[in-house]
Amino acid sequence: MLECPMISRPPLTTLPVRRRALVDRWGRRIDYLRISLIDHCNLRCVYCMPLKGLRFLPRTELMTASEIEQIARAAVGVGFSKIRLTGGEPTLRPDLLEIVERLARIDGLETLAMTTNGLMLDELAAPLKAAGLTRLNIHLDTVNRGSLEALMLWNDRDAVMRGIHAAEAAGLTPIKLNAVVLRGYNDEEVADLAALSIENAWHVRFIEAMPLGSQANIAIRHYVPNRESQTRIEARFGPLEALHDGELVGEARMFRIAGAVGQIGFINPVSEPYCDDCNRLRMTADGKIRLCLLTDHEMDFRKALQEGGPEALHALFERAVADKPVGHQLRAGIYPEVRGMSQIGG
Ligand code: 5AD
Ligand code: SF4
Repeated sequence: MLECPMISRPPLTTLPVRRRALVDRWGRRIDYLRISLIDHCNLRCVYCMPLKGLRFLPRTELMTASEIEQIARAAVGVGFSKIRLTGGEPTLRPDLLEIVERLARIDGLETLAMTTNGLMLDELAAPLKAAGLTRLNIHLDTVNRGSLEALMLWNDRDAVMRGIHAAEAAGLTPIKLNAVVLRGYNDEEVADLAALSIENAWHVRFIEAMPLGSQANIAIRHYVPNRESQTRIEARFGPLEALHDGELVGEARMFRIAGAVGQIGFINPVSEPYCDDCNRLRMTADGKIRLCLLTDHEMDFRKALQEGGPEALHALFERAVADKPVGHQLRAGIYPEVRGMSQIGG
C-alpha cells in the first residue's frame, strides 16, 4: 500500500520557524549584533593596534553589564537572534562571566559567541561555557614563533594552543581560528596554519586585512588577496575541496584539505566584498552603534538608554537598520579613519 505523504511528514510545529527580523532598505535581514566589551587588548597585532599613542576609554565610558544587557534585550526584542562579544580583547573585562550569564538568559537569543585572542582561555573556557556561551572564534595569525612575535607581538605560542584545547574540551565547538594574512609577516606560512585542520576538527579561516584607523597603511601595504593564500595551501596539500557548493557560510567560503577532519575558510572582504549579504550591526564599548564596520557613521545607544530608557532603544534599532549603508567603499579608497578595529570590535 502506498504511504500517504502527508502522514509521513513531521507535524508543522516541528518545522523550523524563521524568526521575525528587521529588514533594511536593501532587503537584508539584520539579525546579528556584535558587542565590543572593551577597547583594551593584551596583544598589539600590527594591523589592529599601534604600539603607542592610542587613547583608551576610561572605565566610566565603558558600558556597564546592566546597560549591555538592556541593549541586548532590546535587540532581541526587535528580532536579533545572534550576539557576538568582541573587543579589543573581551576577556580583559573583569565582569565578563556576569555579562555572558546575563545575555545567555535572554529568551529568543539563539547564539551567544565571542571572539578572543585565546590567551585567557585556559582559565576561562569552562566557566564561559557554564555561563552560557555557545561558540568561540580564536585569533591566531601563525603557528611560527618568529612571526607570532613580529605580527602579534607575542612569543608564547603554547599559551594560545593551551587556550584552544581548553575551549575544545569545554565544548565551545566548532573551534574557529582566524588569521589575518600580511605580506612579509605570515603570507609564506599559511600552509602551516592550514595544516592544523588536518587532524583537528577546527575551522582555520584566513581573513584579508582591511584598512582601518591608525593601522590602515599597514593593511594596505601588506595586503595579500586570499586567492594567493589558497594557491600556497594547494601547492602543499593539493586542490581544496569546496564545501557547501562553494556558497558563503556567514562571510566565509569553506573548503577541506583532502582527508582532513577540519575545514579551511577564506573571508574576502577586500577582494570579494560580501556587503550584499551583510546581516550585522556593531556596538562599540562606549555604546555607539556602528552601521557598517568600514563606514564612520555611528548612533549613540548608551545615551538613548540613559535618557529614554529601554523603550527608546526599539525605535533606535529600527532607525539604525533603516540607515544601514549598502556597503563599504574600499575600492574608491574610502575607509574609516576615526576608529581602528580594536575601538570598534572586529
Ligand atoms: N583586517 C581584518 N581583520 C582584522 N581583525 C583585526 N583587525 C583586522 C583587520 N585590519 C580581525 C582579527 C580578529 C578579529 C577581531 O578581527 O582576526 O580575529
Ligand atoms: Fe588584540 Fe585582537 Fe587587535 Fe590582536 S586583533 S591587537 S588580539 S584586539
